[in-house]
Amino acid sequence: MDIAAILAVLLFFVHIVAFVAGGSNSVVMPIIAGKMVQASPEVRGELLDFAKRLARVGKYSMIALIVTGVLVLWLKWNFVIPNAWFWVKMAGVVAMLVFIGLNESMAKRVAAGDAEAVQRSDLFGRLTGAAFLVVILSAVLAFN
Ligand code: HEM
Repeated sequence: MDIAAILAVLLFFVHIVAFVAGGSNSVVMPIIAGKMVQASPEVRGELLDFAKRLARVGKYSMIALIVTGVLVLWLKWNFVIPNAWFWVKMAGVVAMLVFIGLNESMAKRVAAGDAEAVQRSDLFGRLTGAAFLVVILSAVLAFN
């Protein structure tokens, strides 16, 4: 194994760790959002703090996925695109970034307890989750 191959394996390991850490958002966030609507102001504060911390993990994971993904594509695949599924994956990544951004734009209203904003935020979260599934499926189809 040469140094580039070893690096590629290590970076892919980070890719998978970030994928698990970030992906936890898509399972836990809808549960928090479900609790948020009927929560008392005090409990809502706690739930919001939890959601913010999770969102931060999600953002760092997303950055790590993009950086390690580009590096693995270089070191292992020499920037040769294996097939069209790769572009489906990239479209899924862009869709995730859009929905995450839309969700961010709701953050202040959600924090103020605006029920409509909470519902919209939940919807954007679910759409992010759906795009995430597209990314995973197309990643597997692209690289196997
Ligand atoms: C939300 C963002 C992302 C997620 C959830 C994700 C997920 C995954 C998963 C599950 C695999 C494993 C597929 C397999 O080997 O069967 C994978 C592999 C891979 N991903 Fe990503 N990925 C993301 C972003 C990116 C980006 C932005 C790039 C590059 C521009 C990228 C490049 C790669 C490469 C090159 C591999 C193959 C590694 C190998 O051949 O061993 N990924 N990704």
